Amino acid sequence: MTTSIAVGLGERSYEVRIGPGLLGQAGRHVAPFLRRPRAAVVTDETVARLHGQTLRAGLEADGISVDEIVLPPGEDQKGFAGLERLCDGLLALGLERRDVVIAFGGGVIGDLTGLAAGLLKRGMDFIQIPTTLLAQVDSSVGGKTAINASAGKNLIGLFHQPRLVLADIGVLDTLPARERRAGWAEVIKYGLIDDPAFVDWCGTRGAAAMAGDPGALQRAVEVSVAAKARIVAADEREEGVRALLNLGHTFGHAFEVSAGYGGGVLLHGEAVGCGMALAYRFSAAQGLCPPDEAARAVNAIAASGLETDPRRLPGGPWDIAALMAAIGQDKKNAGGALTFILTRGIGQAFIARDVDPGAVRAFLASELS
Ligand SMILES: NC(=O)c1ccc[n+]([C@@H]2O[C@H](COP(=O)([O-])OP(=O)(O)OC[C@H]3O[C@@H](n4cnc5c(N)ncnc54)[C@H](O)[C@@H]3O)[C@@H](O)[C@H]2O)c1
Ligand SMILES: [Zn+2]
Repeated sequence: MTTSIAVGLGERSYEVRIGPGLLGQAGRHVAPFLRRPRAAVVTDETVARLHGQTLRAGLEADGISVDEIVLPPGEDQKGFAGLERLCDGLLALGLERRDVVIAFGGGVIGDLTGLAAGLLKRGMDFIQIPTTLLAQVDSSVGGKTAINASAGKNLIGLFHQPRLVLADIGVLDTLPARERRAGWAEVIKYGLIDDPAFVDWCGTRGAAAMAGDPGALQRAVEVSVAAKARIVAADEREEGVRALLNLGHTFGHAFEVSAGYGGGVLLHGEAVGCGMALAYRFSAAQGLCPPDEAARAVNAIAASGLETDPRRLPGGPWDIAALMAAIGQDKKNAGGALTFILTRGIGQAFIARDVDPGAVRAFLASELS
C-alpha cells in the first residue's frame, strides 16, 4: 500500500509517496507536475540497467515521453566536471524552464541532479525517485543539493526542494547488502536523535529489513521520512534543529574525506554509522551521556552489521591531523568554534557549539590507539 507523508514548507510543500510498485505507476504521479507530456530522467548506469525500463514504461503509459541521461555510477560524478556535463546534457535536450527533471537513483544522482535543476534557467522543478535506502530515508527529502569540493563534501550547493518524491520500496530488492546496511545508519539515526522507541523497533525488525523484507523496509522508510519531514518543516535552512540530522556526520565526514570519497572504499552510511558511535562515546567521555547508555546505542548500531570501531573502518589507517583538518572544515562550525551533535542518551541528541578541539583530538587518539 502506498502511504504519503507531507513535507510542510508553505508554497514549497510536497509529498513523499512510499510503497511498492511506484515506478510502474510513475506517470500517474508525475503527470500533474508537467506542463507538457515530457520529462528528462537523470540516472546512473546501474539503476538504468536494473530499473530504467520499468520507469520508462510507467511514464510512457501516461503518454509522457522520456529523455534519459545516464551517468557513470559513483561519488566521482558529484564534482564540477560532473555538474558541467549534466547541465550541458540537459540543455542539449532543449528543455524549457517549466519542464521537469527527474532524479532517478541514489543520493549521488539526487544531489547532483537537484543542484543542476536549481541552477538551470535560474531554477527548474525536479522530482526525486530515490533508489537506495539512504536516498529514500534521507537525501531525497529536504531539498539539500550539492557537489563536493576538494576541501570537503557537499560544500557547493543550494537548497532546492523537489516537487514530489516517489520512494518505490520494490527497487530496494536489487540493492547490494552493503548499500542497504549503509542506508540503515541513517534510519537508526532518527531514533537516536529523538525517538528511543524507534531504536527498539530497529533492534527487533532491523534484521528483517536488512534481509529485504518489504514490510520492514516500508515501515523504516515511513518513520524515517516522517521524522525528516518534521525537522525540515521546522527548520528548512538549518538555522537550528535541522543540524541534529548531522548526528555522526562530523566524525563521519572526516573519515570520508580521509578515505578519499569516490571509489567506494568507505560508504557514506558506513562513515556515519561509525561516526554516531564516536559521538556517543565522545559524549560519554565528556560526562554528558551515561556510559551504559552510550554502550547501548553503539550496540544498536552494531546490531545491523555496521562497523563501530574506527580502527576497523574501511579506508584506514587514519591520520589524526588529517581527521582534525577535515573536522575544522565542517560546514556546521561557526566562528572557529567546533560544533558537534552530542547526546545525553538514546533519543537525546543536542547541538553542542563549544566543543574543545583539544578534547576531540585526545579522544580520537584514544579511539585509534
Ligand atoms: N542531500 C542530502 O540531504 C543528503 C543526505 C545524505 C546523503 N547525501 C549524499 O548521498 C550520497 C550517497 O548516496 P547513496 O548512498 O544513495 O549512493 P549512490 O547514489 O552512489 O548509490 C550507491 C550505489 O548503488 C547503486 N544503486 C542505486 N540504486 C540501486 C538499486 N536500486 N539497486 C542496485 N544498485 C543501486 C548506484 O548505482 C551506486 O553504485 C552522498 O554523496 C551523500 O553526500 C545527501
Ligand atoms: Zn548522511
